[in-house]
Amino acid sequence: MENTHTVDHEEASRLAEFERRIDNGDIIEPNDWMPAEYRRLLIRQISQHAHSEVIGMLPEGNWISRAPSLRRKLGLLAKVQDEGGHGLYLYAAAETLGATRDDMVAALLEGRAKYSTLMTYPTVTWADVGAVGWLGDGAGVINQTSLLRTSYGPYARALARICMEESFHQRQGYEIMCAMADGGGEQRRMAQGALDRWWAPALMMFGPPDDASPNSSLSMRWRIKRESNDTLRQRFVDATVPQAEAIGLRVPDPQLRWNEDKGGYDFTPIDTDELLRVAKTGGMAGLDRLTARRAAVEEGAWVRRAMLTHARKQRLAAGEAA
Ligand code: 3HC
Repeated sequence: MENTHTVDHEEASRLAEFERRIDNGDIIEPNDWMPAEYRRLLIRQISQHAHSEVIGMLPEGNWISRAPSLRRKLGLLAKVQDEGGHGLYLYAAAETLGATRDDMVAALLEGRAKYSTLMTYPTVTWADVGAVGWLGDGAGVINQTSLLRTSYGPYARALARICMEESFHQRQGYEIMCAMADGGGEQRRMAQGALDRWWAPALMMFGPPDDASPNSSLSMRWRIKRESNDTLRQRFVDATVPQAEAIGLRVPDPQLRWNEDKGGYDFTPIDTDELLRVAKTGGMAGLDRLTARRAAVEEGAWVRRAMLTHARKQRLAAGEAA
């Protein structure tokens, strides 16, 4: 009895010290003591984020061969590569918490892990590539710039580079939309169609409303997330509506209105049931995305084997030389 009591007491004082550090704005590093629940929340969020980046390569990647010019093709190729890199930084950040890459990838391929619902919608025209960059990466930048001040060091450092690249992607996407909105009638219609299709999915990227977000209270208390889902969603709407207006496109929301009192737009709440359903089932293109990902893992197996063999040979050669 006495032993359990001592352990409980030690645990409580470690937790109090951890929370004091969090309140103090300290950055938590991998070898620091942390509550098991903090570790679990982080692995969950960082691995879902990594999966979103990796799966996010697919809806745009399938336009690389159909990009309308060499310049567009180069830009898109670089963007898709960047997303793959983001996935790698994030998997590496989750590994510092004890998660293994194999387990995370297996969870994704077996359909046990969530990834952003944005990636489950199909990109039906070239304008969708512009809209994904402008709205999807634009929402990503707003969400992840806030996360730069997250309490976990390796996640914050991965995000610093990701945010710089995502903001470039947002500009690239908006530039595609500007060109199309400025084009002939058909191009303008394609741009408007893409905005109509991607507006609601972009708003869903911020997660369910605050009062329906089970992870938010602990995540915000421990400063994993620094601002709430609704705060960030509002910031996105306020920043993006003027960008749409500047190029003569109409945001597809009949309830959209500037609210002088709150200094921001009123807009239609997201469809939370749809968000949670798509997050769970993978929605329209979820099966295609996982099938493509599984094929990529299988087809890339020989490359990974060859690289490991090469690395082993180099180590042996270095050992012999020493
Ligand atoms: N898609 C899929 N699942 C979602 C989701 C979405 N849009 N929004 C919420 N969810 C899931 C959550 O993961 C959570 O699932 P779980 O409890 O089973 O793990 C559940 O719905 C309830 O949501 P919560 O609000 O409680 O979850 P969080 O507190 O984690 O908030 C979040 C959700 C705001 C997405 C937060 O996890 C976050 O900020 N994550 C980091 C950023 C990120 O992952 N962005 C994904 C896009 S990647 C990107 O920007 C690439 C660019 O190229 C487009």
